[in-house]
Amino acid sequence: MSVRALVVDPSAPVAVRLGEVAEPVPGPGQVLVEVSHVSLNHGDLNDARSGRVPVGAVLGSDAAGVVVRAAADGTGPVEGTRVVALTPGAFAERVSIDVGALAELPAGLDPATAVGLPVAGVAALRSLRAAGLGPGKRVLVTGASGGVGLFAVQLAARAGAHVIASVGSAARAEGPAGAGADQVLIGLDGLGDPVDIVIDSVGGPQLVAAWELLAPGGSVQSVGWTSGEPAVFPPYATVGPAKSLSSFVIDSEAGADLAVLTELAAEGALTVRTGWQGPWDRFDEAAEALHERRIRGKAILKVTPHQHRTEPRRPTAAGPEPQRPADGEHPGIP
Ligand SMILES: NC(=O)c1ccc[n+]([C@@H]2O[C@H](COP(=O)([O-])OP(=O)(O)OC[C@H]3O[C@@H](n4cnc5c(N)ncnc54)[C@H](OP(=O)(O)O)[C@@H]3O)[C@@H](O)[C@H]2O)c1
Repeated sequence: MSVRALVVDPSAPVAVRLGEVAEPVPGPGQVLVEVSHVSLNHGDLNDARSGRVPVGAVLGSDAAGVVVRAAADGTGPVEGTRVVALTPGAFAERVSIDVGALAELPAGLDPATAVGLPVAGVAALRSLRAAGLGPGKRVLVTGASGGVGLFAVQLAARAGAHVIASVGSAARAEGPAGAGADQVLIGLDGLGDPVDIVIDSVGGPQLVAAWELLAPGGSVQSVGWTSGEPAVFPPYATVGPAKSLSSFVIDSEAGADLAVLTELAAEGALTVRTGWQGPWDRFDEAAEALHERRIRGKAILKVTPHQHRTEPRRPTAAGPEPQRPADGEHPGIP
């Protein structure tokens, strides 16, 4: 039996096409999930072109849906459980998923929202933790209008940090401002005082500038490199009081952190801002909009049956605004 999937195809306009693959056969510690929604990440587009995901293989990392076969070893959720996961090959109608890579959806959280959490939310949560987030820290988030950035702003603000959000243009400022940023800057202009933590997803010259703004003892987490530009450090930029520039990657199963993020989202303490939504047969539109920096937040795709599409023709651009935490409420980083 085969299932439909978004597979890597270098000859397609965005190197991805909707095709058919064999239905996956779950291993003993895996559940089989019928996927209803997937979320497109910047890294997926890199993966499709870089060879990291082989030609013909299923793309994607973020999926949400319902367990249709429980794990044979008795671990994990039972059939009928609604789940969200961070898993390779997520963009298919059915996916085998390790039980440690998923979280059950709390009541009140729908899959179309939860599916925006895995890659971007886990990257934001883990990089902030690694950097030693705490109350009163000055945290700079670059690429703050994007997926990782908007979650990092919200989580840092919730922990009582002073959050400075950097965006590429004035038009991109409103998302981070609504998410709890104390300051929103275009680039890094006007940021005079040092910062303790940088969550950087832009790289290039902005990473160099952020390093120069980092206080002694501080930490830059290099999460991504959307600028695609080289970072050239002036001589002696790395000589001085100790501070660190750390590489970052999501390198272990995300289920426990996904449970944290889904609980926060269900409580209304973390907002998934949907900047593009539509059926997955319009993947190319979503990919182009993400590439051209036209999406404010997450791109969410609905997995639709081949001949029974019921979606409206146009994607909707609006999603709920991230919520600023109430004054005085700083529950820390989970
Ligand atoms: N290491 C990991 O485990 C991990 C996990 C998740 C993501 N990532 C990486 O993190 C980065 C961000 O991912 P994302 O999902 O948040 O992407 P995204 O939703 O596309 O957001 C990226 C943000 O970067 C800014 N940006 C885009 N192109 C830029 C350019 N040419 N110059 C300067 N800024 C630019 C955009 O903000 P403006 O338009 O406001 O400038 C955009 O909001 C990507 O490189 C991704 O691969 C890594």
